[in-house]
Amino acid sequence: MKHFLTLKDLTSDEASNIIQRGIVLKAKQRQGEAHPTLEGKALAMIFDKSSTRTRVSFETGMFQLGGHALFLQSGATQLGRGEPIEDSARVISSMVDLVMIRTFEHSMVQKFAEYSSVPVINALTDLAHPCQILADVMTFVEHRGDIAGKTVAWIGDGNNMAHSWVNGSLTFGYQLNLACPNGYLPDPALLASARSLGANVTLCASPQQAVEGADLVTTDVWASMGQEEEQKIREQAFAHYQVNSKLMATARKDALFMHCLPAHRGEEVAVEVIDGPQSVVWDEAENRLHAQKALMEFLLANVND
Ligand code: CP
Ligand code: NVA
Repeated sequence: MKHFLTLKDLTSDEASNIIQRGIVLKAKQRQGEAHPTLEGKALAMIFDKSSTRTRVSFETGMFQLGGHALFLQSGATQLGRGEPIEDSARVISSMVDLVMIRTFEHSMVQKFAEYSSVPVINALTDLAHPCQILADVMTFVEHRGDIAGKTVAWIGDGNNMAHSWVNGSLTFGYQLNLACPNGYLPDPALLASARSLGANVTLCASPQQAVEGADLVTTDVWASMGQEEEQKIREQAFAHYQVNSKLMATARKDALFMHCLPAHRGEEVAVEVIDGPQSVVWDEAENRLHAQKALMEFLLANVND
């Protein structure tokens, strides 16, 4: 049995197969061809943080695969009243086939997985957001073909999304250039670990340096969920880290722009970029659905093996 807590849980072949299957499932959905591969299966979705895309994509995805999804807001469950994670994991996993968790501390998801009898999916922690990278790479592949050997530029916070882009450079073989302000660099241990395994990741001195020759430019909010009170101080620290048309002009002419969303127009991204011709953010958001359907099929196929 496999969990999906970070991209390191997938081999490159497994990840590529999931992307390809996501593309097939997208076509089937578009053509109205039924594909109830997870009939009779149930997914528990545990949320400690807000969500639009993650909830809608997992819940709809499970429905389209013939299964059922339960939306569990932790505060409305006994988890929120302090029932131990170990006990909750044993109980919930005894009744469902898959568990998806969005929470703060990554260690919560790790502990849940340790005691779960079914696969656990990380649907965002403070450390990582691997589901988003599956959708982002799928989007790149649809628009430009294989991402291996291409250059991805990350501009902004060294946050959960940045960490997953770092891990993804190992899985998918792209070169990653990161430009983050001092004090907001990615976790050094995660970076060192990815590099020791061969990840091609460069910390750049400026956003301009990071986007030079980039095939894909991507960013995220300056203050993530749980950091709302740091918004003002972060606005100052990130003032020179906006992705705008001047910065995009330094990238390759055919560079794509991505953002996991939700976005703050006028902060990390200018209106002309996110709503401009290089932006593929809507495809990226939709692909959460298709990529995660493929991920759920993969995790459950592994259980049956
Ligand atoms: N990108 C993403 O995970 O969006 P939500 O927070 O809306 O789920
Ligand atoms: N870094 C953001 C991503 C939201 C999808 C956050 O954690 O809030």
